[in-house]
Amino acid sequence: TWTTGNVIEEQVERIREQVGEGTAICALSGGVDSAVAAALVQRAIGDRLTCVYVNHGLMRQDESAQIEKAFGESTGGAKLVVVDAEDQFLQALAGVTDPEQKRKIIGREFIRTFERAQAEILRERGLVEDEAGGGTHTTSEDATAFLVQGTLYPDVVESGGGEGAANIKSHHNVGGLPEDLSFELVEPLRTLFKDEVRAVGSELGLPDEIVWRQPFPGPGLGIRIIGEVTRERLDVLRRADAIARAELTAAGLDREIWQCPVVLLADVRSVGVQGDGRTYGHPIVLRPVTSDDAMTADWAKVPYEVLGRISTRITNEVPEINRVVLDVTSKPPGTIEWE
Ligand code: XMP
Repeated sequence: TWTTGNVIEEQVERIREQVGEGTAICALSGGVDSAVAAALVQRAIGDRLTCVYVNHGLMRQDESAQIEKAFGESTGGAKLVVVDAEDQFLQALAGVTDPEQKRKIIGREFIRTFERAQAEILRERGLVEDEAGGGTHTTSEDATAFLVQGTLYPDVVESGGGEGAANIKSHHNVGGLPEDLSFELVEPLRTLFKDEVRAVGSELGLPDEIVWRQPFPGPGLGIRIIGEVTRERLDVLRRADAIARAELTAAGLDREIWQCPVVLLADVRSVGVQGDGRTYGHPIVLRPVTSDDAMTADWAKVPYEVLGRISTRITNEVPEINRVVLDVTSKPPGTIEWE
């Protein structure tokens, strides 16, 4: 029978078998999935786990600082390395507008960043030596590179990995992985749904703040800007998103709503009027949904007063935005994210 206790015991055992005496790094995103995966691996192999948080510059306002702060509590005291990779990701995304291409680029840059972090960690542990030519030489079998990811069952299915499933979109940690992957993957949540992961997280003693955190996609705001991703556009989206989140939280809707992507239609402009002046700004889309597992979703019936406050505040406080639009599409036919 399925109990969280059984899942924990079974996965810890499996991880020990797979990793042996090796070391692993865990790709931490700040969300519940990677935190639970890290906590399981921490139980299994202790301080041979290092967590790596990559700030790819596609996070929401203040998010990176919050994640660093919440980290210690949420993973049972594992080590954390923070990599600042904003320039690297933005350069790689320059000029790219196709959603699948964005996802693959982000997946690839994540892996490259983890490879560099792993090399650094192994060097610190004395498991590799630098060679004269600039390469590295492995001095121990324990240097096998294990990468822990919080991949869930729906990620696998929707990336085309499940039986008979079509590739709807390449999740950054599944279909978005490069082909020459130099890591062996450890994915203890690969058969679980989100509600199950939350139950396991609670059982492992993770704080509610992490366990009940709304989903946020690994590719971050990169797939919420329709069009090219630039620093300026990210800045606009961040300001609008922070307002929407603050108002939804203030209205007490965080648990009721599964998540609310805020999407910038960066290549669309419309005419508006503010004061005496004409504006020619961008629309922003609110996409609040309810869901149990993200495989299907319904558009959330957020009270008009709350929507009104969000709209007024965004158009007052973010001058680049002159129109706020509500997405009233279920999944299917619409996916939750726009890209
Ligand atoms: P869609 O847009 O496919 O999203 O309906 C379903 C759920 O998955 C999240 N999502 C992702 N999560 N990496 C992630 O970690 C990804 O590449 C990714 N793409 C979508 C999305 O936010 C929603 O919760």
